[in-house]
Amino acid sequence: MSSSTEPATVTPRGALRRPAELARTVDVSGLVDTEGGLLDRAVFTDETVYRQEMRRVFAPSWLFLAHTDQFHRPGDFFTTWMGEDPVIVTMDRNRRIRAYLNSCRHRGARVCRADFGTTRNFTCTYHGWSFNLEGGLVSVPNREGYPDSFDTGQWGLVEVPHVETYRGLIFGTWNPAPVPLRESLGDMAWYMDAMLDHDEKGTVVVGGIHKWMLEGNWKLAAEQFATDWYHVNMSHASALMVLAPAGKKPKQEIVHRAGRQYVGANGHGAGFPVHPKNRFDDGTVHEWTDYDALRERLGDARVEGPLTNGHATVFPNFSYLPVNGSIRIWHPKGPDRMEVWAWTIVDASMPEEIREAQRLYNLRTFGPSGVFEQDDGENWSEVQGTAGGFMANRVALNYQMGLGGEREDGRHPGTTSELYSDAAGRSFYAHWRTLMNTPAWHEEHA
Ligand code: FES
Ligand SMILES: [Fe+2]
Repeated sequence: MSSSTEPATVTPRGALRRPAELARTVDVSGLVDTEGGLLDRAVFTDETVYRQEMRRVFAPSWLFLAHTDQFHRPGDFFTTWMGEDPVIVTMDRNRRIRAYLNSCRHRGARVCRADFGTTRNFTCTYHGWSFNLEGGLVSVPNREGYPDSFDTGQWGLVEVPHVETYRGLIFGTWNPAPVPLRESLGDMAWYMDAMLDHDEKGTVVVGGIHKWMLEGNWKLAAEQFATDWYHVNMSHASALMVLAPAGKKPKQEIVHRAGRQYVGANGHGAGFPVHPKNRFDDGTVHEWTDYDALRERLGDARVEGPLTNGHATVFPNFSYLPVNGSIRIWHPKGPDRMEVWAWTIVDASMPEEIREAQRLYNLRTFGPSGVFEQDDGENWSEVQGTAGGFMANRVALNYQMGLGGEREDGRHPGTTSELYSDAAGRSFYAHWRTLMNTPAWHEEHA
């Protein structure tokens, strides 16, 4: 589904020349010590680091945009963010999914201020410039007031140059020459399929998209979903009690779990217990699920591992929980804030009442006031709240669990580690450090 390979540098720029000093760049090598398992808290608090992330992590990476089920006919649209850039995702008249910078070429207002809907044109409500589904500028009030040199063909919406999908998940990148999405996922796709590929019908979205703000750097959530099963027994102790049968403690096989963690080379990560009985999903959904068919399709290793109670992050800021059907994005909103957007997806083959059971289960556990979600958000805000102190900010954080334990295990693809391990966290920050220290496409085309 890729479109043009034009760099997304915006023409015309005439006599404009942006001074390099506006994009101050720092070497972040000294902030991440993956070999020693140490992290400097400036990665969560520093404004210069944050601005550099927008340019070097978000501008070149594949970023999650939406689910294909949100687009059924031309003009269906959904507005979201790529880093801090507002974007419109829409289906054009040829039924192609495209994405545009949601910023008017006149004075920069958003040309679409609705969350989602269906339209024929995107008309800016400031002065009335209007753009079609292909991004072209098709109407300009007082057109005769502009000079002859004014060419509407040059003032269309800025298009996200590459939009690709993986099993219903739509990603886009500003990178004019990216590694294809499937290639950038690498072995991560095997783990994602445990949620996305239960049968040939794929997944659909149920209910709306929940959105909420949290105090906390976006990486706190992304790294936790990549690497952190460690917090579950402590942080979620009360939630585990609630889910346990009445009057009983959580089952031992839930508390003391063996499992694995996938340590992706591109910063992706996933963790999951490995146990034939290791489930605490919704009973209704569990009974409906045909595990024999899943074993046939996906193999025992996936059904007993990443299909169950796992967590995962696709670098940089897309995460999911397979058993809950929760997919979410951590939108950065400054060094110390993020906005969480969470969808519930289900198998398209699920009957209505099973879909509803899954939706409610996800809401109870990982909705904005879910019994697990509340614990996690509280922790990230807690960590962020201490990171701003002068002394606290100077004290390194510990990511040493499982140091040196990364290996191939012969059952799960790629490099893996123990379930209780910081390995995918170290890998997440190693990839982050590489991107932060590498000039991005727009610097080469400057
Ligand atoms: S800012 Fe959009 S028409 Fe002026
Ligand atoms: Fe959690």
